[in-house]
Amino acid sequence: MKLHGSLAAVAAAVTTFFEVAQAHCYIYSVYVNGVDSGTFSGIRTPAYNGPPPYGFANGPVKDLDSIDLRCNVMGDRQVPHTIQVTPGDNLTMEWHHDARTSTDDIIASSHHGPAMVYISPDPPTENSFVKIWEEGKFAQGEGPRAPGKWATTADIAGNGGKMNVRIPKGLKAGFYLIRAEMVGLHEAEVSYKKNPIRGAQFYPNCIQIEVLGDGDVSLPEGVSFPGAYKWDDPGIIYDVYCSTKTTTTAPCTTTYQVPGPTVWSGAWPDTPSVELGAMTGVTKVTSWNTWISKSVVTSASAGKVLGTSTYQAQWSSTYHAPTPTA
Ligand SMILES: *[C@@H]1O[C@H](CO)[C@@H](O)[C@H](O)[C@H]1NC(C)=O
Repeated sequence: MKLHGSLAAVAAAVTTFFEVAQAHCYIYSVYVNGVDSGTFSGIRTPAYNGPPPYGFANGPVKDLDSIDLRCNVMGDRQVPHTIQVTPGDNLTMEWHHDARTSTDDIIASSHHGPAMVYISPDPPTENSFVKIWEEGKFAQGEGPRAPGKWATTADIAGNGGKMNVRIPKGLKAGFYLIRAEMVGLHEAEVSYKKNPIRGAQFYPNCIQIEVLGDGDVSLPEGVSFPGAYKWDDPGIIYDVYCSTKTTTTAPCTTTYQVPGPTVWSGAWPDTPSVELGAMTGVTKVTSWNTWISKSVVTSASAGKVLGTSTYQAQWSSTYHAPTPTA
């Protein structure tokens, strides 16, 4: 009985091992006016962290009703550092796939889709996420079934993983979360709800910021995560490989509507790419002996599974200062 139990656990771990091998992308660092805050500083890094030697290996969130859509897995857990900003500051988020290096591919080249940035007071409340930037499809592809040019693959990946946003003018001082997101539409011609092995892939990532200064602008009502995206949203069920030039008789949509609300009128219309100073911090994640996949926490040592437990997000309704590390 005992032996069977542990064999089952090992089998489960092997399944996880293969799943995490398809690592995707998350934010490695945030620059404030071109100054690097340091690798993983202030970022609630998603913890789809895999068994050694992979370390963090975040898979996509695909269930629109899951709490993980808010700030990814373990997005409810504070990190020690909070990035201080003032209204008007230019932030550059640096996304990567495997490592914080110039040769990293940022996001798999097939993962065409939109990218969005939201801001919410920390902790989020009902309808507190306000969209401050978005980018979808910006050019139609040439020829049959050409995917076109997209925010994730052509812009962000084409610019070394850099995603720019600016802290809204006059924003009231306080603690906020920036929720930045990349979406892969390469399997989005059908919803995850209808076919769980396909569907749009979401890569949300949250950053802890403290806005300083004497601003008097409050955020308007926004949206909730989960809740903001619906299973039949035209921006969530979308065939990126469809094109007007296919020979099929089925009409294709060539325009693309980014999911979620419109960008808040108080957000900056331009998000400049500022000159960046030297990067600071490690280039790779350290591998952990504990990882989370599909809400199961697995602990291992020397290749042996020690135990599993269930992960459940626990969002506080009040702000608590994070515990600093030495
Ligand atoms: C942000 O970028 C804009 C446009 O380049 C610039 O005018 C502004 O001074 C920058 N903000 C800060 C705080 O450097």
